Amino acid sequence: MKALVLAGGTGSRLRPITHTSAKQLVPVANKPVLFYVLEAIADAGITDVGIVVGDTADEIRTAVDGAGFDGLRITYLPQHAPLGLAHAVRVARDFLGDDDFVMYLGDNFVVGGITALVEEFRARRPDAQILLTRVPDPTAFGVAELDEAGQVVGLAEKPAEPKSDLALVGVYLFTPAIHEAVAATTPSGRGELEITDAIQWLIDRRRDVRSTTVSGYWKDTGNVGDMLEVNRTVLESVEPMVAGDVDAATEIVGRVRIAPGATVRGSRIVGPAVIGSGVEVIGSYVGPFTSISDGCRIEDSEIEFSIVLPGSSISGVRRIEASLIGRNVEVTPAPRAPAAHRLILGDHSKVQISS
Ligand code: DAU
Repeated sequence: MKALVLAGGTGSRLRPITHTSAKQLVPVANKPVLFYVLEAIADAGITDVGIVVGDTADEIRTAVDGAGFDGLRITYLPQHAPLGLAHAVRVARDFLGDDDFVMYLGDNFVVGGITALVEEFRARRPDAQILLTRVPDPTAFGVAELDEAGQVVGLAEKPAEPKSDLALVGVYLFTPAIHEAVAATTPSGRGELEITDAIQWLIDRRRDVRSTTVSGYWKDTGNVGDMLEVNRTVLESVEPMVAGDVDAATEIVGRVRIAPGATVRGSRIVGPAVIGSGVEVIGSYVGPFTSISDGCRIEDSEIEFSIVLPGSSISGVRRIEASLIGRNVEVTPAPRAPAAHRLILGDHSKVQISS
């Protein structure tokens, strides 16, 4: 069995963060989303992995090769334009050969991995097995319609009027039967070759398409709110470790991970939080659910429930919350507008004015 990871595309919903970089590399607890995907694949016992790459191919290759996933044999499969998930399967046709495969969208985060799912598929080998989960707004996803027996009868990609609240999770298992379906697929209204259409093609021909509904944790990390939520969840189980240089004037509370090579002076860090290597935190507060990537500098500032990408600096700013800050960003206070208070105060008044 092989794995096909989709890491092309444009990532428009995470703009401007992904204007210049791959959305699959945005870190969760200081590790790129794509690395969790590759780890889940390795844990499921799959070693042959094809990664579909687009404009950000160089960046993805550098990150993945640099991380050295020793147990995996990785093949990069260039896709000249993001023409759809079924198009990506066409691009991977030679790589996949006649093997079964798991297709995993590189920006999806499935807590608990895919091992059980892969084992179930291996045991029964339906033509296709999809993963579904209930979501509040199905219009943003592929949506499945099931009959009374729980059999998938219809799939629609981002329908205006969804037939259920069951969204397709970005993990699909296929036998080679999918290739004929993908070859028969034509561009959808949005101009993409949709994998949902290919699976529908199988359903229409009474092929064996099964679904598993999961209630566990899953997020498509395509938008900032989801990224912050995934970050929060992963941080909750991070192993505490203080390997950096932390002075006596600093207070560390709860689940905090400080990488070797980080420096913390006169600060308060309240976990769960991770601080990367080479980071300097000086006279600042870093609050719960915050990930500060390598090489950042936080000085005289307060930040919580946020992700800061490598090489950024935040100085003299309080307080930053629910934020995703890109690479090499500088955040500083705006110059103060001159303010005047006009007061008519009686004798012996006591007033407090924030200034
Ligand atoms: O996250 C689950 C959803 O993923 C499903 O419910 C939808 O049915 C499915 O179409 C997909 O929707 P998205 O709009 O989230 O797909 P997106 O364009 O973000 O692409 C998903 C991943 O695949 C992402 O890592 C980029 C990559 N990709 C995408 C396209 C269109 C490619 O590598 N090549 C492509 O041509």
